[in-house]
Amino acid sequence: MRRLFPVTDHTVEPTSAKSAPAGAREGVTGDREWSLDELADAYAYPAGTGAGAGAGAGAWLRANMVSTLDGAAQHDGRSQPLSNATDMRVFGTLRGLADAVVVGAETVRQEGYRPARAREAFAARRAAAGQAPAPAIAVVSASLDLDFTLPLFTAPLTPTLVLTGAAAPAERVAAARKAGADVVIAGEGAGADPARVVRELGERGLTRLLTEGGPRLLGQFVAAGALDELCLTVSPMLTAGDAQRIAGGPGVAVPAKFVLASVLEEAGFLFTRYRRGS
Ligand SMILES: NC(=O)c1ccc[n+]([C@@H]2O[C@H](COP(=O)([O-])OP(=O)(O)OC[C@H]3O[C@@H](n4cnc5c(N)ncnc54)[C@H](OP(=O)(O)O)[C@@H]3O)[C@@H](O)[C@H]2O)c1
Repeated sequence: MRRLFPVTDHTVEPTSAKSAPAGAREGVTGDREWSLDELADAYAYPAGTGAGAGAGAGAWLRANMVSTLDGAAQHDGRSQPLSNATDMRVFGTLRGLADAVVVGAETVRQEGYRPARAREAFAARRAAAGQAPAPAIAVVSASLDLDFTLPLFTAPLTPTLVLTGAAAPAERVAAARKAGADVVIAGEGAGADPARVVRELGERGLTRLLTEGGPRLLGQFVAAGALDELCLTVSPMLTAGDAQRIAGGPGVAVPAKFVLASVLEEAGFLFTRYRRGS
């Protein structure tokens, strides 16, 4: 993996690595596998996001999505065919940095979500940041049509949250709670209000937020102006067809502008990171 942007004195092209100036941190940005520690440094949440940020304040919502060159966000109902091993390392790193992983119920159902693991590589960093050993998974669902007997709900290291609306079916709310899930009402109707999802999690001290989609949920965060950062993997593949894009649903009146923060590259995959512009 190598860093393409921002270009710094230490940006080492693989072909010129041997001629890198003395003192250049050869390899850190050159073309080799980065350690999880280096990836974690590269993807650190902005200073000020975290435990000391105060209830509800300072929450930062980043999304991690993968897209083909022609904009497909899934193939045969999964994102895995679009990914590669490095993308999975970035995916794991982003989880390793997060307080909570916010995900739409359809992605949970289709991708068979399991509880997040506590990983040794991030243990010291998480302890120093006052984080639980593993991020909580926070499922957003209106129907609560979820299998509450799954380990995601019955055996997580950090209790799974279910965010829904006040009109959610009472028996499903009861089933979720019985399984051990922390049910959070984050909307007045059937569904959750996306901005309130961020607020409710922040008020529980979960401020370093990562959403893994899917497209219907991400589209609502975008439309609500709640997305702070997009970590988008551009996969060097074309699929044609009618797959969803990374964000769907009703569009915004004015395109939300984002600013490029960094680009990493490995095997033709681009690991881009954009932050909300002003
Ligand atoms: N390329 C990528 O990076 C990526 C990432 C994630 C997923 N995916 C793919 O995307 C597909 C699934 O995504 P999707 O867009 O169809 O679904 P999704 O966004 O994962 O989930 C949609 C569901 O989430 C719940 N939901 C969404 N907004 C809600 C709200 N405001 N309040 C309450 N509940 C809400 C509803 O659940 P209920 O039906 O339970 O009410 C809704 O049916 C899969 O094929 C997956 O592989 C790709």
